[in-house]
Amino acid sequence: MVSDTDVGSDEVGLANRAYIPGAGWQGEADAGRRERYGSELIDRIGNTPLIRLDRIARPYAGVTLLAKAEWVNPGGSVKDRAAASMVRHALMAGRLRTGKTLLDATSGNTGIAFAMLGASFGFPVKLVMPSNVSPERKRILKAYGADVEWTEPDQGSDGAIRRAREIAANEPDTYCYMDQYSNPANWRAHYETTGPEIWKQTGGTVTHFVAGLGTSGTFMGTVRRLKELKPTVKGISMQPDSPFHGLEGLKHMATAIVPAIYDPKLADRNIDVETEAAYAMAKRMAREEGVLVGISAAAAVVASEQIAKEESAAGREATIVTVLPDSADKYLSERFWEEE
Ligand SMILES: Cc1ncc(COP(=O)(O)O)c(C=O)c1O
Repeated sequence: MVSDTDVGSDEVGLANRAYIPGAGWQGEADAGRRERYGSELIDRIGNTPLIRLDRIARPYAGVTLLAKAEWVNPGGSVKDRAAASMVRHALMAGRLRTGKTLLDATSGNTGIAFAMLGASFGFPVKLVMPSNVSPERKRILKAYGADVEWTEPDQGSDGAIRRAREIAANEPDTYCYMDQYSNPANWRAHYETTGPEIWKQTGGTVTHFVAGLGTSGTFMGTVRRLKELKPTVKGISMQPDSPFHGLEGLKHMATAIVPAIYDPKLADRNIDVETEAAYAMAKRMAREEGVLVGISAAAAVVASEQIAKEESAAGREATIVTVLPDSADKYLSERFWEEE
């Protein structure tokens, strides 16, 4: 388990500079370089646009429906935020240093984000992943040069977690295990970035925040920050309605290894979403809003629409914000796009 208070220094030439929380990467040469040549890859993470879903919200008087377009991140998903935060903390604590390989279990997007950051900073990355992730994800990881160990598909992300724990325990000197399910730097990424962004982008008018649960980092960090800023904000978590589902990246908490960072008490409410409803919404988002989203993003819109319907029926005004974790790019080979 990674401590919340891990601090140290990046003693090696990995990044060759110090990371100061809130101020970014510091260093004389660096500051000069950035001024001349623009920002670095890691600095492009976050500050995603908030888009209005007016067509979906149209039947619900008094409701504004807004969504964070997380595919704009350089690795193509919301997981860039958590991965960058975990890498920064590991560098600062000196846990990730020359000679160490970053290790984690992932269902895809965190792996892509780690692979991207590893390539960018120059550290090797080993990922453990169920073999049934989409072919697009496999190709992206290969393109970034990550080493991937595949686990049995019927064991899902839990099988990958068990295997990663085994590797980390057997070879502690070789690997720096990020353990995204237990790592506080995961939810802190959202406490420090996603939450404040939503607050600023809505001018403080947000009334509800809806997000799917994978590691739960997005939900935990964002809701903690928004509730601090405005205690009346409602946090609504969303999960697949059964253990066998097609909502890649999300967990059915009742039957899964529950992430250590997950605290169900933070949610004012939970909504279960069927995979079929998410498929239908992915098509509506494409055809009515012109926004091609991934399946967990579509599921988040299903849950948000339910809240919109209830608030409108009760005659209440609401500004509902959700997170669209990734775009449809990695799911275009799925058959549901062709069904009517
Ligand atoms: C596509 C997708 N949606 C949602 C999530 C859930 O995000 P979190 O892990 O912050 O709960 C993930 C996490 O990997 C994901 O890949």
